[in-house]
Amino acid sequence: MEIRRLSPALGSEVVGVDVTRVDDAGFAALRAAWLDAGGLLVLRDQRLSPEQHLAFSRRFGPLFGEAEQLQRSVEPYLLPGHPGVYRVSNKVRDGVPQGRARAGAYWHSDVSFRERPAMASLLHAIELPPRGGDTLFNSMHTAYEALSPALQALLRGLHAVHDFAVADRSSWGQVRISDGDLDGENRCLHPVVITHPETGRKALFVNPGFTSHLDGFSAEESKGLLQLLYRLAIREEFQYRHVWSPRDLLVWDNRSVMHHAVVDYEGVGERYLHRTTTIAARPAA
Ligand code: OGA
Ligand code: MN
Repeated sequence: MEIRRLSPALGSEVVGVDVTRVDDAGFAALRAAWLDAGGLLVLRDQRLSPEQHLAFSRRFGPLFGEAEQLQRSVEPYLLPGHPGVYRVSNKVRDGVPQGRARAGAYWHSDVSFRERPAMASLLHAIELPPRGGDTLFNSMHTAYEALSPALQALLRGLHAVHDFAVADRSSWGQVRISDGDLDGENRCLHPVVITHPETGRKALFVNPGFTSHLDGFSAEESKGLLQLLYRLAIREEFQYRHVWSPRDLLVWDNRSVMHHAVVDYEGVGERYLHRTTTIAARPAA
């Protein structure tokens, strides 16, 4: 297999590998390349049935939809018969949405509102519009490392509340909260700076999609500090923009990467992707 770095901040592209056929040594090499690339791997030209996508994903760890359920409002978008597969799509057939439309159209880290948030998300492109529908990725390692030592030291002592209800406010009404989404399990506290358990590298762990406020601060202080952090963290030089090709499989590490769907293809074409999501350990400072 051939590995090529994609942007200085993060990402590697892998060609010449079929994820349905990698042995344990091959998987270890992929995982090492993934961590080495700051937690983003682009695997080209993968033909995956839902079963094959799930089988490869389980090698990273237990899955949402299998070992533990996601929030109630995603249930209509799970692939019938395969609750570990979450469908992201603007397609509607006979009035029935074929996936969640406008999913993740804001900066976020998947499922950060759970005590055990997402680790790897594996997103597979099945149908793409003729243009548009790119996805942006931002390295939260690079973002943290670029802060001054004084601000890093302040942030290392802080915790933030993450709450699924924030998505409703940050996505202009596109996220529909269901009964059961707002109970205790979709709201939790995480350190603002986490240490990656496998690499030891620190990362900023707040995101505009799901972070509600900084613990112990007034509402105004929290809002001002978070806005400053987002402005400092979400910079072009910390990013990679993925222009999708059919059959791409992207694997990102939600402990070190934020992402943002660019929804610019409405009226241009149909987009249909399958996502699986593995469950992380509780993030630690
Ligand atoms: C996701 C997500 C981005 C996209 O599936 O978690 O945020 O571009 N999707 O579809
Ligand atoms: Mn997402």
